[in-house]
Amino acid sequence: MSKIAYKRILLKLSGEALAGQQGQGINPQVIKQIASDVAEAHRLGVQIGLVIGGGNIFRGVSASAQGMDRASSDYMGMLATVINALALQDALEKEDIPTRVQSAIAMAEIAEPYIRRKAIRHLEKGRIVIFAAGTGNPFFTTDTAASLRAMEINAEVIMKATKVDGIYDMDPKKHPEAKKFDSISYMDVLNRGLQVMDSTAISLCMDHKLPILTFDLMKKGNVLKAVQGETIGTLVQ
Ligand code: GTP
Repeated sequence: MSKIAYKRILLKLSGEALAGQQGQGINPQVIKQIASDVAEAHRLGVQIGLVIGGGNIFRGVSASAQGMDRASSDYMGMLATVINALALQDALEKEDIPTRVQSAIAMAEIAEPYIRRKAIRHLEKGRIVIFAAGTGNPFFTTDTAASLRAMEINAEVIMKATKVDGIYDMDPKKHPEAKKFDSISYMDVLNRGLQVMDSTAISLCMDHKLPILTFDLMKKGNVLKAVQGETIGTLVQ
């Protein structure tokens, strides 16, 4: 068995990544590729908790910016994460990976309720647990949900996989000279206002010394490299 750097991780996937080139919704090829990447890491024996965003379906923040009540739009965003969680469960089970979806908002007909001790038991039994519906509260992002769940399940690291390959000192799309950090402190991320996660999520990780590894989800094999401890993306610690 290849070496693994972590026994238990919380992998946060961007909902937007699921859309692929089409920009919204769920692209079947993309979700298949993501599931196959996650499956590779799982086969090494890493225990994986997953949180997925919902931005490919509905963005609560944008809707509230256009005048919708923030709490209502956040609840819609949480429901979007449940749709993504079920899609991801299906894709992972096609890879023969046992999974359980636990939702922070009760909807017993389609998902288990979130129960921390049960989630840990599932992980110990080699199941991937997908945490849906954020924290169940409006005004909290799925990044904050990921940080919270990571701490609750005693994950050693939170891996934030997005469409960007790490953290830069400025926007690499606008500034070609932008420099990527291999590693950066929580404080620097907060002080420089770098768009890694929202400040609630970063502060939570900082207070509990939970490292955050950010990397490009779209690059095949990156999840595997990350769990093997290869230097990819940017580590916030
Ligand atoms: P253990 O038996 O403890 O190893 O775990 P298990 O998840 O296999 O057992 P359980 O009997 O709790 O669950 C059997 C199946 O029903 C699993 O696919 C669960 O995800 C699912 N399940 C359990 N509770 C709920 C629920 O409240 N709602 C929904 N929709 N499914 C549930």
